Amino acid sequence: MNQWDTLTDIFGCRWDEAEIPACAADNICIAWPSMLSGVDRTFPEKASLSVLDFGCGGGLFCRCLHGLGHTVTGYDRSEELVKVAQGNVPPEVLVTSNRTVIEGAAKYDLITSIMVLPFIEDLHGVLGTLARLVKGNGVIIQAVFHPEFVMDNFKTNRLVTDFSSETNSGFLELEKGVKIPVHIRSESEYRQAYSRYGLAEIYRDSPPFSQEFLAKYQMPFSTRYPEYLIQAFGRRAA
Ligand SMILES: C[S@@+](CC[C@H](N)C(=O)[O-])C[C@H]1O[C@@H](n2cnc3c(N)ncnc32)[C@H](O)[C@@H]1O
Repeated sequence: MNQWDTLTDIFGCRWDEAEIPACAADNICIAWPSMLSGVDRTFPEKASLSVLDFGCGGGLFCRCLHGLGHTVTGYDRSEELVKVAQGNVPPEVLVTSNRTVIEGAAKYDLITSIMVLPFIEDLHGVLGTLARLVKGNGVIIQAVFHPEFVMDNFKTNRLVTDFSSETNSGFLELEKGVKIPVHIRSESEYRQAYSRYGLAEIYRDSPPFSQEFLAKYQMPFSTRYPEYLIQAFGRRAA
């Protein structure tokens, strides 16, 4: 059984009303603007891109990208989250858990991936796939856990448990009994990993929690350090 299938309450939240859902507020208010700023900077002239959101979860970022005029495909291995995502996106957005669909499609201008790679042990296997699926002049933009955020929270409230500093991995237990292995990698480890595929870093950001955000949303963890590390990689100069 795919562990993510049991987390639809957390990663499959709906956003039908004006208010941003609290379960995704940090993602939407902090990670998304930086991801979108990375898109604007790396594609200053192109208005409409073909985009793959890899590990799209409940599909909210797919919906956002579609709203910005892009042609969007969402892929996630969790069939339950894909079902939720299909209910969250307009019919023009394809969301699938079938890998052959994305492997068989035309290559993408842009691949986005928000908080997926920390949960992947075989990083090289996945980066190899993404590098194959992105166009030669395309870009991959990712959000991952910022290592300082994880270390700070590991010490204070054990957001990540059983953390081993030898392997830099531990477990995230967002719901009792569902322990998901998590792998914390630094910005330079990602740079090195992408360099195997001829992809170089062209954008990097660590967006902090703003006072305005913290006044509105209560986070169940320490917000002293940025939660997200955003990096974009491409086969062209920064
Ligand atoms: C923390 S959630 C993030 C979901 C979404 N990107 C978001 O920002 O809300 C991690 C997602 O990665 C997906 N995932 C984990 N391993 C994957 C893999 N090998 N291929 C595709 N998706 C994967 C999970 O099913 C889950 O939806």
